[in-house]
Amino acid sequence: MERRDFTQRILGGAFAALLGVPGVATVLDPARRTAGSRWTDAGAAADVTAEGVKTFSYEVEAGWETRKETGYLVRDGEAIIALSAKCTHLGCKVRFKDDKFVCPCHGGMFSRTGAPEKEPVIEPLVRFVVEIKDGKVRVQT
Ligand code: FES
Repeated sequence: MERRDFTQRILGGAFAALLGVPGVATVLDPARRTAGSRWTDAGAAADVTAEGVKTFSYEVEAGWETRKETGYLVRDGEAIIALSAKCTHLGCKVRFKDDKFVCPCHGGMFSRTGAPEKEPVIEPLVRFVVEIKDGKVRVQT
């Protein structure tokens, strides 16, 4: 191989690598996204009463797929709390019953504000950041 061919191959390879970096970054981008960066409209604040809970749904990006998850809005005095409906034991969907969140899978139980109350759950329900503006609730998921 002559020196000129060698130089052309090296420069060609470097050029191809430069073109390939953005392409690889674009393909890998979904895997690098993290939770907590998306705001979801969760409805009117007036609909969240002291008597019950209000459900909302939000999207979660997990790698290359997007799936819907459920959350609960709970009135706590003047404040509104947003909780994930995913049990912190093994991820089953908790349900609101008799002023508690109950997990149907293993009988775990959480308080109205998401605190663990009955094993096997020992961690509270995940709590999201809430913003109330113009009577509307937005949740950062
Ligand atoms: S998944 Fe909820 S108690 Fe086990």
